[in-house]
Amino acid sequence: MKIYKDYSLLPYNTFGMDVKAARFVEYDSVEELVKFLDGQEGPFPFLHIGGGSNLLFTADYAGTVLHSAIKGREIVGETEDWVDIRVGAGEVWDDFVAYAVACGWYGAENLSLIPGEVGASAVQNIGAYGVEVKDLIRFVDAICLETGRERRFTNGECRYSYRDSVFKKELKGKYVITHVTFRLGKRPGFRLDYGNIQAELDGCEPTLDGVRQAVIRIRRAKLPDPKLLGNGGSFFMNPVVEPEQFEALAKRYPDMPCYPAAGGRVKIPAGWLIDRCGWKGRSVGRAAVYERQALVLVNLGGATGREILHLAQAVAHSVREKFGVTITPEVNII
Ligand code: EPU
Repeated sequence: MKIYKDYSLLPYNTFGMDVKAARFVEYDSVEELVKFLDGQEGPFPFLHIGGGSNLLFTADYAGTVLHSAIKGREIVGETEDWVDIRVGAGEVWDDFVAYAVACGWYGAENLSLIPGEVGASAVQNIGAYGVEVKDLIRFVDAICLETGRERRFTNGECRYSYRDSVFKKELKGKYVITHVTFRLGKRPGFRLDYGNIQAELDGCEPTLDGVRQAVIRIRRAKLPDPKLLGNGGSFFMNPVVEPEQFEALAKRYPDMPCYPAAGGRVKIPAGWLIDRCGWKGRSVGRAAVYERQALVLVNLGGATGREILHLAQAVAHSVREKFGVTITPEVNII
């Protein structure tokens, strides 16, 4: 276990914020985590981070930042049709996808190149190109921060919905995820109906690696590489509106894209709304709206978290004024 004081979080957030944690703790196993939690006296609060690809720090963190280095992949069940694989929360998400593809297991390939770690994927319900990680998750193993006790959550108990879970709501800050068990298919089955995956395959017969490479090419073309330009992926969630509001908007903006959402509601791409407000490619100081995808805010170099936040507020204000729609951050603002 590693414990540091006044530790720089620069390598732990893809926005590239040079902030410090009063204490930073990295553990390698469930036993280490439980031992560490026993009789803790702070500094509180605790913040558990993954790869920091969905976080915006607006100031130094006065509490304790926890990071999992629990690694490993273990097959825990298998038939002719599927395999259940239990993965450590500290594994890099895309390494797991690459491994699944190399093994010939289906299900995770559309989620290629999403930054972050396995534990955070199960908190955030990451998604892309018609697949959400909830479609693959069987169980989530977690430790209660208060009692140090282990608990296994079934998929249903995680209460997944679009970019949401019980770990972001009722149980926020209460559990630390240690392992996630995924069920992947052994028989070919692809989701190619979303976005331009089909076009990217260019008439080729889909294969696991072919789909993975197509997704990687699409993402690279649209989304900035955090190593070159600090960002947190989609800054906002796509808003979900009532059908009546959608009808009224669609009359005024017939070219507005939309997707069906649960309960007859309609999801509208926030990137399109922001783009239509004229924000794409615009900057305020060292914070900018990415020129190729308006849903992504970027750090042009040396921006503070507050500068990014001010830009986000101005963008959300424009969208509310023009469309009467509220967009809320997907990124966790600390
Ligand atoms: N659009 C514009 N202008 C823009 C951006 C988008 O008009 O600047 C339009 C596009 O033309 C398209 C629609 O908006 O008609 C949707 O755009 P896109 O397919 O790029 O997807 P998105 O809704 O903006 C979501 C996820 C992404 C995920 C993609 C692909 C959210 C918040 N974002 O973006 O996830 O990769 O779909 O499935 O749901 C992330 O969560 O960090 C992320 C990158």
